[in-house]
Amino acid sequence: MVYKIGVVRGDGIGPEVVEQALRVLSFIGNFEFVELGIGYTYMSRHGELYQRDFFDVARGLDAVLKGPLNTPWDRRDFRSLNYLIRRELDLYANVRPFKSYEGLSLGRFDFTIVRENLEDLYVGVEGEVGGVAVSVRFTSRQEAERVSRFAFEYARREGLEKVTLVHKANILKYTDGLLRETFFAVAKDYPDIRAEEVLVDTSAYKLVREPSSFRVILTPNLYGDILSDLAAALVGGLGLCGSAQIGPRTAVFEPVHGVAFDIAGKNLANPYGMLEATRLLLKYLGWSRGDSSLLKWSKALEGAIRRAVQEQGAVTPDLGGKYHTSEVGDAVLKNLSSENS
Ligand code: IPM
Ligand code: MN
Repeated sequence: MVYKIGVVRGDGIGPEVVEQALRVLSFIGNFEFVELGIGYTYMSRHGELYQRDFFDVARGLDAVLKGPLNTPWDRRDFRSLNYLIRRELDLYANVRPFKSYEGLSLGRFDFTIVRENLEDLYVGVEGEVGGVAVSVRFTSRQEAERVSRFAFEYARREGLEKVTLVHKANILKYTDGLLRETFFAVAKDYPDIRAEEVLVDTSAYKLVREPSSFRVILTPNLYGDILSDLAAALVGGLGLCGSAQIGPRTAVFEPVHGVAFDIAGKNLANPYGMLEATRLLLKYLGWSRGDSSLLKWSKALEGAIRRAVQEQGAVTPDLGGKYHTSEVGDAVLKNLSSENS
């Protein structure tokens, strides 16, 4: 079986970190790569923000490996391409695992944030009238149900005993209220998994003080965005974490970090977030296509990354190391080939 993988090189440090991911996938084999053009860098060369058939092509692929894309802060006419991809490909669940590294992380923990990825304040219904600005927040029952089910299925497949809903239903009676009601209704179909809830402010506190008390966190889009940066800080840096964005047909794998224009093109960027995303891609294809060899490869890559970070100190300057981007790739590939022999 040859899998078709879309490749979005992205902006800023994107191309350098994506390159390391492609080295890993090429080493494993059985992948055909399809270049997909989107983003600022693409626009500067082609005059358009993305290639015309971008979404049609992407929908037909097994998965997409994606570097970071720039989302400007100060332009109202420009909506986020990251969000556009999520919406157009129906990537409703954003899965971000956070596992501590000895000697690097704050505490010991192993939990996953499942972030609803399409609704909430990201929908982009906003405006301003007479000095009052409004951003509308959305939660649909259908989405709440779909993503709740995803979180329980994920917990079951990973052998995790509980799912914690993080919300603010004491204040947001309608949006988070609906999510909460739906979550506990879905929980009845999963008697083997405990369903818990924590308010979002408390969850920020508990994530710092007692991160090991979490296994799977399910939370709305914006809380998930904020809490996943907090969780990345616990792990040791944004550059170490990756995410899987899952839809019914395809899935997109990207690092949690942004474009870091300041260090772009210098072979200084930390590729671990992208390598983590690659590990998640292998796992996703392994599960969804019933391909046990890819599940083995994802385990092997996990081991290769852990050894490089924890035992070999193969890290870039953002983590106090001296390794260049491509040298991290070398170290991980070397570990991967020895894990496999
Ligand atoms: C993320 C990013 C994006 C988000 C930005 C770039 C639109 O911060 O994936 O966490 O807010 O979702
Ligand atoms: Mn974010």
